[in-house]
Order: sequence, then structure tokens, then C-alpha cells
Amino acid sequence: MTKKTIAVLPGDGIGPEVTRAAIKVLENIADLHDHEFVFQEGLIGGSAIDEKGAPLPHETKELSALSDGILLGAVGGPKWDHLPGGNRPEKGLLEIRKSLDLYANLRPVKAYASLIESSPLKEEIVADVDFLIVRELTGGLYFGEPKMREENEGEMQAVDTLVYKTSEIKRIAERAFQSARLRKGKVVSVDKANVLESSRLWREIVDDVRGGYPDVELEHMLVDNAAMQLIAQPASFDVIVTENTFGDILSDEASMLTGSLGLLPSASMGSTGVGLYEPVHGSAPDIAGENRANPLAAIASAAMMLKYGFEMEKEAERIEAAIEKVLADGYRTADIASKSEEAVTTAEMTDAVVKAL
Ligand code: NAI
Ligand code: MG
Repeated sequence: MTKKTIAVLPGDGIGPEVTRAAIKVLENIADLHDHEFVFQEGLIGGSAIDEKGAPLPHETKELSALSDGILLGAVGGPKWDHLPGGNRPEKGLLEIRKSLDLYANLRPVKAYASLIESSPLKEEIVADVDFLIVRELTGGLYFGEPKMREENEGEMQAVDTLVYKTSEIKRIAERAFQSARLRKGKVVSVDKANVLESSRLWREIVDDVRGGYPDVELEHMLVDNAAMQLIAQPASFDVIVTENTFGDILSDEASMLTGSLGLLPSASMGSTGVGLYEPVHGSAPDIAGENRANPLAAIASAAMMLKYGFEMEKEAERIEAAIEKVLADGYRTADIASKSEEAVTTAEMTDAVVKAL
């Protein structure tokens, strides 16, 4: 029996509804595999501002840092939109990522067989899509210094800096090769090494790290070509590792391969060993409290916690298989139902997953 403490941060809008669903599935899997999961709830985002006056209260930070994994819903909503940047719900999320040094953002992109017809791309192109984007999340162009505006020769200019340290590249590359080992054993490292010095260092370090993973295949690809290949032959990818900006753009591009936001999970992994797992979607205030949200992204995020955080691969795969089964059986929440199909509620979808387990 393995005991794990899980910090649950439901947040705002549909956050509480979808995290409740994920907890139900986790409790079930714990029973089935004789594990003990202890859930400890904390405030984050708008609800934390309302109750504690800050988007990431001290207690939540502590609870999260001491946990084995963090399950997050979503933060934000129109109620808090008037607040200044420093005290907005989103600040809570940025703060927790920073305080736990969550440098690796993992986004799996998978086409569910029973939903392929709803993709904007041709069926034969999307059919076998199943890859993982490993995006560097705390370095690169978004954080490099100097970052400023200045007067130069009589006009204003702006500077952003793309800087990567060897250690930053090394740790994200390690993460990619480790992930590939759990998958099809193939890494594509995306850069712009024909132009950028930071990309040339990136390539060298990724090659070095690969030395420790002779069982994993490695290919380097220029980012412009990668953007094209993601549409031309998305099923050829297994693990894509890339720097912060390229990863931001490519992961949004890739998310469109599968259809609904309500299906996409993510994990943010750090140096402390505590990972944060959350659906890619936001708090969906337009459907909050209506029992209509698709819980599958949150449930799949919980599966990622088992796989990447707790080394419970079998359990994770069991949840993934259950998700595939309910979709194959025709269960559809409103976001993925076609006009002619009857939609199920959040609770009904969750119960169907539990039953499929
Ligand atoms: P959103 O992802 O919340 O919603 C976009 C659209 O997708 C809406 O029509 C919504 O109903 C639908 N949708 C999202 N998740 C769904 C689900 N699980 N099932 C069914 N339909 C779903 O993005 P939006 O509207 O831009 O942002 C709403 C709030 O969420 C804002 O305050 C924003 O800042 C916040 N947000 C928070 C994120 C986070 O906590 N990580 C990420 C993105 C946005
Ligand atoms: Mg983005």
C-alpha cells in the first residue's frame, strides 16, 4: 500500500465541479489498487481573495509544498476582473508555479478515436495522434534580462532577451527523455539553431543528455518546420521538447488537433518533486454551477499525477482506458455532443468513468 497526500485547490467557476470529479475517480482507483490518498483542500484564486484577501494564502502555499502532488481546478472570473494585476486570481497560479520552480510543462495531445470526426483536420491525419509536448516553463524569452524599453538614436526601442543556462536545458531535456521512456521512445527537440545561439547551445546539451538514454531516439527539428509537421503529419510525433516561447505557440496549435478544451490535461513539474496537475481550460464562468462542465480534462490530469508524480503507471493507464471507454460508449458532455446527441451532466460523466474503471 502506498500513501500519498494530495493538495486539492479547486479554485473558481467550474474548478470545484471538475476537481470533485477527479477526486471521485482517484478515490476509486485507490480502492482498486489498495493505495491511500489523503486529500487536503486549500484556497486559491478568486475564492481565496474573497476569504483571505490574497490569491495564494500562506496556508495554501505550505499545504502545497508539503504534499506529494497538487490537483488544481481553475482560477478567475468576471467577479474579480476589476482588481489590479498584483491581486488578481491568476497571480495565485503564477506564484505557486514560481515558488515550486515548476519548470516543465507537460501537455499530452491525443485524438480519441470516437471523437475524430469533430476535428477540423481530415480523419486520416488525426487518427493516430498521441504525443506529449514538454515545454520549458520558467526560462527563455519570457524571463530573460534585460527586458525593457529605451531611447536609441532618437526613437524608442524595446528589448527582450532569449537566454538559457546549460542547467536549465539539461533538466528539461532529462524530463523529455524520461517521458519518452514511458511512451514510444522518440524525442523531437524543436529549436531555431540555424539562426539563434541559444538554440545551438540547446542542441548541444540535448545531444549530451541523450547519451544517458541510448534507448530513446532523438531528432532535431527547426521550429518553423515543426509547426508545419504538426498539421501535415501529427501522428509521427511522440515527445516534443522545446523552449518556452516555441512551446507556448506549438501547444496551442496542437490543442486544436483534438477538439474540445474540456479534454486536455496538463502537468507542471518542478525541482522539488511536487508537481501541479490541472486541466488546460479555465474557470468557464459561463457554465459554472450548472453541472455541465466536461470533467475529463481534470480526470486526465489526475491520471497524469499518478503517472508522472507517483510512478503509478498502471493506475494511470486504467483511468485513460476508462476515459476512452466512456467516449466510445457515446457519453458526451455538452461541449463534445453534436446537435443530435443528448448531453450528459458532469456527475453522470464522472459516474460513467468510475463504472468503466
Ligand atoms: P475557459 O477555458 O474558462 O472557457 C472557454 C470556453 O470553453 C467557454 O465557453 C467554456 O464554457 C468552455 N469550457 C472550458 N472548459 C470547459 C469544460 N471543462 N467543459 C465544457 N466547456 C468548457 O476560458 P475563458 O473563458 O477565456 O476564461 C474564463 C476565466 O478562466 C478567466 O477568468 C480566465 O482568466 C480564467 N482562466 C484560468 C486558467 C487557469 O486557471 N489555468 C486558464 C485559462 C483561463
Ligand atoms: Mg499560450
